[in-house]
Amino acid sequence: MTTALSGLGLGLRPEHYQDFLAGSQPLDWLEILSDNYLVPGGKPLYFLDAIRQDYPVAMHGVALNIGSSDALDWSYLSAIKALAQRVEPHIISDHLCWTGVNQHRMHDLLPLPYTEETIRHVAKRIQDVQDFLGRELVVENLSSYLQAQAPLKEWEFVRAVAQEAQCGLLVDVNNIFVSSRNHGFDAMDYLKALPADRIRQIHLAGHTYSGEFCVDTHDQPVCTDVWQLYGQAVKLWGHIPTMIERDDNIPPLQELLDELGQARDFLQALEADYEVA
Ligand SMILES: [Fe+2]
Repeated sequence: MTTALSGLGLGLRPEHYQDFLAGSQPLDWLEILSDNYLVPGGKPLYFLDAIRQDYPVAMHGVALNIGSSDALDWSYLSAIKALAQRVEPHIISDHLCWTGVNQHRMHDLLPLPYTEETIRHVAKRIQDVQDFLGRELVVENLSSYLQAQAPLKEWEFVRAVAQEAQCGLLVDVNNIFVSSRNHGFDAMDYLKALPADRIRQIHLAGHTYSGEFCVDTHDQPVCTDVWQLYGQAVKLWGHIPTMIERDDNIPPLQELLDELGQARDFLQALEADYEVA
């Protein structure tokens, strides 16, 4: 049995294992990249078991391939289930995307066509995964750079999948910002459309501009625009467990903790605004 996460977290990265083993750090929980801990034995699980004793953990994967037309990968799901039994995560998440077809892995998170047929297809697969895991699956919105013509907006698609599958949502606010820049939509339209009662976690991250595209690089601090969009999200949904996701150009842990402190200050300032209002 698990309880809801609360507060602020970081993604656990191997560069910081020793910092977490050395002493208590000022954060509420850690998100692990599930795919790095699926091989029995070895150092990753050794560090995870030790760190898990002191911090609640959320599991986040990249290889579920939930949107594909391939059959679900039951051996992968069995490994995810075994890891969940070991670390007792508060949530298990992956991405609302496809990552390969006909057994070919693309090693990328690719957007789905925003159609009614895809909603039914993905929702059924999410339900199958939830039945297998015996618990809710949480799915995350992507950033994207190209859009196929489709009858639905991305936010209509995400909302419909969550409602039909009865699953949770991990809202990556930076991904919404990045896609809004690349496709020219209003990010607030996206936030307002999401069902607040299904949102389990928020990701914040940095991005980079490259030519005409805004690229979801996760290699630098959260920018002012994304903090502001996060503020709007908090006003809409209240406090949702939030973490900073850094995947490249990993700085010393203290730098990420300082950034998390910024999130804490930001939330306190918003609360003060509420009290004044
Ligand atoms: Fe994310």
